[in-house]
Amino acid sequence: MLIHLFRLLVQLTVAAVVGLLFGHFFGSNSGLVIALLIMALPLLFAYISLGRLDSYIKNAAIGDISGYKGAWGEIFFRLQRLISQFRKRQLEIESQHARFIEAFQASPNGIVMLDDQDQIEWCNEIAERFLGISFKRDALQRIHFIVRRPEFVDYIKASDYEEPILIEQMGPTNNLILMIQAFPFATNRRLLLIQDVTDLRKAEAMRRDFVANVSHEMRTPLTVMMGFLETVQSLNLNPEQKDQYLGLMMDQARRMKNLVDDLLTLANIEANTQPAPQKIVSMAALMAMIQNDAQALSKNQHQLSFDISAEGSLKGEERELISALSNLVSNAIRYTPQGGNVNVSWRVEQSGKGVFSVTDTGSGIAPEHLPRLTERFYRVDRSRSRETGGTGLGLAIVKHIANRHQAELKIESTLGKGSTFTLIFPTERIALATPVVQ
Ligand SMILES: Nc1ncnc2c1ncn2[C@@H]1O[C@H](COP(=O)(O)OP(=O)(O)O)[C@@H](O)[C@H]1O
Ligand SMILES: [Mg+2]
Repeated sequence: MLIHLFRLLVQLTVAAVVGLLFGHFFGSNSGLVIALLIMALPLLFAYISLGRLDSYIKNAAIGDISGYKGAWGEIFFRLQRLISQFRKRQLEIESQHARFIEAFQASPNGIVMLDDQDQIEWCNEIAERFLGISFKRDALQRIHFIVRRPEFVDYIKASDYEEPILIEQMGPTNNLILMIQAFPFATNRRLLLIQDVTDLRKAEAMRRDFVANVSHEMRTPLTVMMGFLETVQSLNLNPEQKDQYLGLMMDQARRMKNLVDDLLTLANIEANTQPAPQKIVSMAALMAMIQNDAQALSKNQHQLSFDISAEGSLKGEERELISALSNLVSNAIRYTPQGGNVNVSWRVEQSGKGVFSVTDTGSGIAPEHLPRLTERFYRVDRSRSRETGGTGLGLAIVKHIANRHQAELKIESTLGKGSTFTLIFPTERIALATPVVQ
């Protein structure tokens, strides 16, 4: 301020001195004109500078003003500094904002911000996919006009957000179960958090089904056994009859034991999330063992053929491999009527993969059952499975063991003609004891 007053004083003094000098030599009128001109000069300069400032502001190019000195130079310099500070701050805020958006976008959950009118202020891409909304199209639309599921509309309108809600059949293909909860924030705004709980719900349902299945599977033989026990207790049976009943009871006890054994095997394999170890398991020995068991099970009622074209060994857990291979062979025998053929083969392919395959000429399986065969307790023909001592867990066990050995289980079947179950082991699981014969 003082500096400007000083400048004015200097200017007035210069105008007065020059005016007086001119007045003295050329008459007082010309002195006055000269003094006024000197006074008007800065005014002219000020107008020019204001004009420039105006056009720079209009073009948002204030930072480009240069070449000014003195009072105007100083004003422009300060203005430019102020603007560059503002710009820096604005960039900082923008990048902070971008980081927030990136963080929200990175969230695996859907996020929607609603304003006090329930209008969509912002949402991330996951929320767009979950709710079928588009931020570009639906910004500032009321959410319940876009997501029209009654349970959702009621939830938003009720303003009671203590508990989340579950909505089924959501998402792009209507197969997601979503858990949505609103969280109030600021004044009357809400944040919607949307979680995909489909897998969680499915796992819960599977667990419930599993417990129900196990209980059911145990109850049937128990009930039958109790019936026999009552008969033996209440009737006065002769020794032959007693023996017959005891034999029947033994069958039921065996059935329960099979079930418990399979459940334990499954539990053991499931508890072990590590890949199977790489211990060498001789396929020749394994095939011989399976052949023995198969013959005992078939009781000469089937044509069995065993074919080891290339000896080699598998690297894995012996107990599990026996269980997987013999499950496939016993299924083939059990689901193939008398007189049918069962062919078991093991070969190492040129690619280095090991292929174990069981082909039967049995009942075959209709295509609609194939994808579900490895589910626990899934059976195509329940009574046939039970009659032959099946638990419904065999293929689930095979599948788990295959996974632990990075092997693939392939099932091909034609109803009425027969089936082929194949386990394909990767090269890393094969140890070639003898060279591959081609
Ligand atoms: N070789 C096969 N031929 C026909 N059906 C089969 C064969 N193997 C398995 N299945 C069908 O798959 C179902 C599931 O097999 P699995 O899990 O081993 O249980 P199970 O104890 O009943 O044998 C069987 O109940 C049967 O219906
Ligand atoms: Mg089985």
